[in-house]
Amino acid sequence: MEKAKVTLVSAENATSPSHKLHLRRIRESDHLPIVRVVDDWWGGRHVSHLLPKLFFEHFQDISTVVENDDLELVAFLVGFVSQSKPDVAYIHFVGVNPNYRKEGIAKELYTQFFETVRAKGCTTVKLITSPANKGSIAFHERMGFKALPGDQVVEGIPVILNYDGSGNSRVSFSKEIQ
Ligand SMILES: CC(C)(COP(=O)(O)OP(=O)(O)OC[C@H]1O[C@@H](n2cnc3c(N)ncnc32)[C@H](O)[C@@H]1OP(=O)(O)O)[C@@H](O)C(=O)NCCC(=O)NCCS
Repeated sequence: MEKAKVTLVSAENATSPSHKLHLRRIRESDHLPIVRVVDDWWGGRHVSHLLPKLFFEHFQDISTVVENDDLELVAFLVGFVSQSKPDVAYIHFVGVNPNYRKEGIAKELYTQFFETVRAKGCTTVKLITSPANKGSIAFHERMGFKALPGDQVVEGIPVILNYDGSGNSRVSFSKEIQ
């Protein structure tokens, strides 16, 4: 398959078929189409409850969606600037349609996100992921994120035990973007 190209051209403003992918800000109307697919995109894990509509209503300025020329959902990133630490941006969710993986789309979404939050004064990007999500861990390491110290090292990765409550251990990743 030809390497995908993510552009900043919005689907609304495209004047001719470009066979490119289009990146735009997230909208409230993206909520249902995204929650319908995420469990499948996460390999059958139940994660849709972690994406309530509030993210689509109140975090539009830095959260993004990628669509193809047919306006099909290709990828999305939900993130925000920390209310408590204005120099920290947080990536809550990123997902790429399984048909479009390993083509640099998530990398491009992250590059755009870093630029946007840098312009807002952020110097650090943080996120957490599940120790079981090996694909996410590999991707974030490849993107230059470092796992913060944990209570236990599992298969070479520091894990913070019960981070999200009993039994919900997490890997906490951080990257400086100065
Ligand atoms: C993780 C995910 C977002 C990566 O998206 P992607 O568009 O395929 O990633 P990219 O093509 O931009 O990859 C960027 C780099 O990470 C590497 N990478 C991506 N996924 C990888 C994986 N599963 N294993 C190892 N390396 C991986 C790529 O090879 C690439 O490396 P390179 O720069 O040396 O070429 C995607 O697999 C996904 O949606 N997974 C399910 C949802 C999920 O787990 N999200 C993260 C937690 S919120």
